Amino acid sequence: MTESDVLSALPPILPAVSGSTGHAGIDSELFVDTLNRPLRDLRISVTDRCNFRCVYCMPKEIFGRDYAFLQRDELLSFEEITRLARIAIANGVEKIRLTGGEPLLRKGLEELVSMLADLRTPDGREIDIALTTNGSALAYKAQALKDAGLKRVTVSLDSLDEATFQAMNDVRFPVAKVLNGIDVAHAVGLGPIKINMVLKRGQNDQDIVQMARHFKGSPYILRFIEFMDVGSSNGWKMDEVVPSSEVIRRINAELPLEEVVPNYDGETSVRWRYRDGGGEIGVISSVTRSFCQSCTRVRVSTEGRLFTCLFATEGNDLRALMRTGCTDDELAQALGAIWRNRGDRYSDLRSAKTRELRQSGGKKIEMSYIGG
Ligand code: GTP
Ligand code: 5AD
Ligand code: SF4
Ligand code: SF4
Repeated sequence: MTESDVLSALPPILPAVSGSTGHAGIDSELFVDTLNRPLRDLRISVTDRCNFRCVYCMPKEIFGRDYAFLQRDELLSFEEITRLARIAIANGVEKIRLTGGEPLLRKGLEELVSMLADLRTPDGREIDIALTTNGSALAYKAQALKDAGLKRVTVSLDSLDEATFQAMNDVRFPVAKVLNGIDVAHAVGLGPIKINMVLKRGQNDQDIVQMARHFKGSPYILRFIEFMDVGSSNGWKMDEVVPSSEVIRRINAELPLEEVVPNYDGETSVRWRYRDGGGEIGVISSVTRSFCQSCTRVRVSTEGRLFTCLFATEGNDLRALMRTGCTDDELAQALGAIWRNRGDRYSDLRSAKTRELRQSGGKKIEMSYIGG
């Protein structure tokens, strides 16, 4: 099959393939998109289910008893995921993040981790394999995940206050169990552990300084995340976003901070450290200071659709392509064509785009479907 045959085997949402990548100074063998961004990170959603009903992600009114989650045969198998990952790694990916829904609900996840942990970059390096979890099952799963080759976990925790946390997860899940999961993960060596706190004004912003104090001096890196307008279910409003500048101002007033240089190019989080040596925090400003210009992430949904942006309305069906018996070369060509045609920068264009999508009735993907 030629590249255009491979593309025509995919659903008709791909843009036309341009003749050449044409980016001066960049190896034309690598996958580079129309804004000169290489493909570096693969985020794989392993289940669309979750045992929490966070109000900003899977509100109960929408994700209720009769919500149609995917059936088992619709999910990508571990073999299919590993195949996709192997091809992505051969073409630039160095970091894999497993997400959900809640990834620890996927049966036998440690088997997938061990299959992924065997993969190597073309120059023989190991892959950075991370997992985003709500922490509810971490205490039970941490050791097996570590043994399988997982490097680190990021745990979502929106408050330390019992009433606030339970109102946000909306299933009465207690804070102490998540904290215990984090400690067990640390004890087995799944670090550095990051704690993600999504801020929603009027819901948990009163807990910002308390969270900072709690994790100051601990081995954990706390990150404050601006509430984003992902999906169509969370009823996002701009006045519920707590800007990162306000977070820094509020913490700095009590616990003095200074900015730190990024760990790596394209890091989502802006890092700050306590002036007294009490460690660091991060702020992720997807709304007030978007970072599309350095976005090197591609996302695979639970049933094998490839999304080049968190705000995409449709993905490319790689499961269909794999299940028609395509070769590895054909799969690589499809991935390359999709990435080379990518021009997404939705957060940068947020306002205009969101308005346009609403007017056209387009349905954005949900965070619980594609993972953070
Ligand atoms: P590290 O590898 O630990 O640096 O992870 P990360 O910060 O890239 O990933 P993580 O999944 O922890 O991201 C934290 C939050 O940042 C997510 O929950 C989102 O709210 C936001 N985020 C991550 N990636 C993107 C992205 O590509 N676009 C936008 N708009 N937000 C993102
Ligand atoms: N805005 C920002 N982050 C979100 N997440 C889920 N929904 C949103 C949203 N609307 C992120 C959180 C959570 C992870 C699983 O997904 O970081 O910790
Ligand atoms: Fe589940 Fe995470 Fe979404 Fe909360 S934010 S509902 S824990 S997937
Ligand atoms: Fe990347 Fe899209 Fe997020 Fe921008 S909005 S950083 S292009 S995923």
